[in-house]
Amino acid sequence: MPTVRLADYRPAVCLINRTDLTVRLFDDHAEVEAQLAFEPNPAASPGPLELRGLDLTLLELRLDGEELAPDAYRLSDDGLVIAAPPRRPFLLQSRVRIHPHTNTTLEGLYESGGMLATQCEAEGFRRITFHPDRPDLLSRFRVRIEADQQTCPVLLSNGNCVDTGLLSGEDGAPPRHYAVWDDPFPKPSYLFALVAGRLEEVQDTFTTASGRPVRLRLHVEPGDAPYTAHAMASLQRAMRWDEQRYGLEYDLEEFNIVAVRHFNMGAMENKSLNIFNSKLVLADAETATDAELERIESVVAHEYFHNWTGNRITCRDWFQLSLKEGLTVFRDQSFSADLHGLALNRIENVAVLRNTQFREDAGPTAHPVQPDAYQAIDNFYTTTIYEKGSELIRMLHTLLGEDTFMEGMALYVRRHDGSAATCDDFVQAMQDAAEAAWAREGVVPAPFEFAQFRRWYHQAGTPVLTIHRHWDGTAGVLELTVEQHTPPTPGQPEKQPLVIPLALGLVDQAGQALPVQLEGEQPETAAAERNGAWGAHTRLLVIDQPRQQLRLVGLPPQAHPPALSLLRQFSAPVKLEMGRTTAELVHLLAHDSEAFARWDAAQGLVGQAVQARAAGHANEELEELLIAAFGRILADPLLSEGSRAALLSLPGLAELEDASDQPDPPALFAALLALQRRFGEALAEPLQASLERCRPAWPLAWPEGSGARRLTGTIWAWRAAAGDPAVIQAAREAVDGGSMTLARAGLRALQCLPIAARQEAVDAFYRRWQEKPVILDAWFALEASAPFPDGLERVERLLHHPRFDPAAPNSVRAVLGGLAGNPPVFHAIDGAGYRFMAHQIAALDQRNPITASRMAKVFSRWQSYGPERRERMRQALTALASGTLSTNTREVVEQCLATELSASGLSAAAR
Ligand code: TRP
Ligand code: ZN
Repeated sequence: MPTVRLADYRPAVCLINRTDLTVRLFDDHAEVEAQLAFEPNPAASPGPLELRGLDLTLLELRLDGEELAPDAYRLSDDGLVIAAPPRRPFLLQSRVRIHPHTNTTLEGLYESGGMLATQCEAEGFRRITFHPDRPDLLSRFRVRIEADQQTCPVLLSNGNCVDTGLLSGEDGAPPRHYAVWDDPFPKPSYLFALVAGRLEEVQDTFTTASGRPVRLRLHVEPGDAPYTAHAMASLQRAMRWDEQRYGLEYDLEEFNIVAVRHFNMGAMENKSLNIFNSKLVLADAETATDAELERIESVVAHEYFHNWTGNRITCRDWFQLSLKEGLTVFRDQSFSADLHGLALNRIENVAVLRNTQFREDAGPTAHPVQPDAYQAIDNFYTTTIYEKGSELIRMLHTLLGEDTFMEGMALYVRRHDGSAATCDDFVQAMQDAAEAAWAREGVVPAPFEFAQFRRWYHQAGTPVLTIHRHWDGTAGVLELTVEQHTPPTPGQPEKQPLVIPLALGLVDQAGQALPVQLEGEQPETAAAERNGAWGAHTRLLVIDQPRQQLRLVGLPPQAHPPALSLLRQFSAPVKLEMGRTTAELVHLLAHDSEAFARWDAAQGLVGQAVQARAAGHANEELEELLIAAFGRILADPLLSEGSRAALLSLPGLAELEDASDQPDPPALFAALLALQRRFGEALAEPLQASLERCRPAWPLAWPEGSGARRLTGTIWAWRAAAGDPAVIQAAREAVDGGSMTLARAGLRALQCLPIAARQEAVDAFYRRWQEKPVILDAWFALEASAPFPDGLERVERLLHHPRFDPAAPNSVRAVLGGLAGNPPVFHAIDGAGYRFMAHQIAALDQRNPITASRMAKVFSRWQSYGPERRERMRQALTALASGTLSTNTREVVEQCLATELSASGLSAAAR
């Protein structure tokens, strides 16, 4: 398997001015004619012209109209090379046959639910026609689509529709028609899209800030139009927000979204023709949960925001993927925070980051935000590229402040609009804006070195900050010693110190915030000014040494040190080690005015309680403290229901596993359940009172009432675990009600209980939604994660269920992902769950490598478990490795097997 390396990047030998396509669609195949207008690239030395092509049957190849002699080019499995292309502009014409109807990879052109659709990112365009298919080659596209008028009344591609009409066919043949689309913006091939089929459309409009009307259309399978209002409204909000916050307007007369049932990922930002996984379009309060509605809003916004950060400015090569993805995630997170409040949004994003990205960063597939080598690019659409990438942008925002960050952003857009850029280009724009601002404001010395900040892009692994304190109670001085350390990751045994923005606050014994003043600084004013949005009681420190000491002065002298509220708003993607006592965390949970740090204190305490139970001895004292704290939170009139729900949320299993030495997943899972039961019993009255308080908000339309519904879900889960018959009945009945949020909250509350009401609720859900595949996937996931002894037979039955569609990645992920999230079954000590999973992944890999290799990552933490599980997981991985695998899945499996766990964590092995 060849490795692609950043160091091997070379500019293309030829540029392309135009890509003109004619795509003729037939019942069982398609024919694609391409005319590529090439010219020599002045920035490259002459050489062979490399075109990529996969599963294409070449029918014709011409250069400037002349059939190309067989010895002028070389055709291989993955492309076509013209040894000596002309040193002047020339036209290359090809005609190929492709088979979209039997294409199960869901890359290139494929069939889904009777329609034809494309997915070209990252390298799918080469399954449509011969083309260089690299993101740094931008060309203007003109696309003519021809198809049967009956089966494909709707024909879409990028840009503006410039012509449509009927084709004159043979007598008696079904009538055919055509449409011609022209995209005035040069783009890389990965942003090409085409859709043809029988689709229902919903229309609306948007008027841009400068007054240009845009026609907005959503295209869905017939019957689904009633479920499009939420996605449409989300799109309009996103368009407005990007104008208001970033000054970025939409640039074409139309914008289309198509919902497709069979899709490998969430959605795709093709220029003016976004294609979405239908689960991220179709929704209303009856059919989708609040969390799903919010996710839809953010993904619609994400794909729309790519129009500038991704499309107008694209990536030079795939090593720069985070240039568009990290930045666009940062933008969609800011959008959601502006709409729904920063505090809870941040908490949710951090919970996801810790349970996915931290885990990835600690395992064999850990990689930097800007990797320097890969085998299959599809494997690099990871939480590190997306979520950690977004954290890097957020740290720049934190370090520079909103105004300077926006100046950097404007500079980035001015410099790179219409071209393919690198991550470093982005950081350079930020640096130039920052240096200009610092010079203007006389900030000397620079608060941090950009060269050092750039290391974040190249170093994998989650940094750990270790903090030691010394409190001088007579002088009122708190001395902090901060050490940073990034553990080794595959291929990177040694790490260098990073620039880490650390936001901190102090809370005194009475629960009041204390001013944070560094030695040598003016009290209050200076700090408050430099601090910008943080306010006077939070101090942003820049940690950039392996070890540094900070003296916080001017504190009231007293025997007890103030409590340390650290990493406020999660100011950097790091772990903290500082040995805070239970009492200090309880104090922060009660009094910290900063929402994230307060939540984090709760997470830390609950995490300890779970670990203690999993180890076989519940920490009674800690649990009592938590019960008292939760009781106060449930009754605190200053908190919203959503904040209460967040403070009461339990840490995720992945995070709990990563915090244990040789984790025992079934034990952690049982501990979580036991703790819910304990809370449910001990807090019966305040929970009941809160339930009554939440009830009136149940029928309110999202986003109204979502906090109350979320807290209801927690209360149901705790009270159902404690056996409350009224709650069990309410949870069961919610499945028949008008709110999907409550229905799923009810199902979740009953999910792990071996009682009749559970199966009744699950069956009722099935009966109600069996005709709606998008919704039924939630049922598949529930059943697959039912933690009962018949687990594997249940999963086996699901895979053979008449409503199970093995070609739909959503359904496959529901069942196999459900199994992976079912600790007692997946992690059964005899290894049966692992063997079953490996077998399924091998089968899936035959049809859909992208989805299979993503699933294979369920084995990535095998080395962290105890000896039996480790050995059984290794066997499963080895069995996988011994079969025929796609490049994608082989890369993941071999990465997993290639690293050895040493005493200090992961060390590099043969790579
Ligand atoms: N660029 C898409 C996004 O916005 C990601 C994506 C969609 C993708 N479909 C894909 C990546 C298929 C690889 C393969 O996040
Ligand atoms: Zn994206």
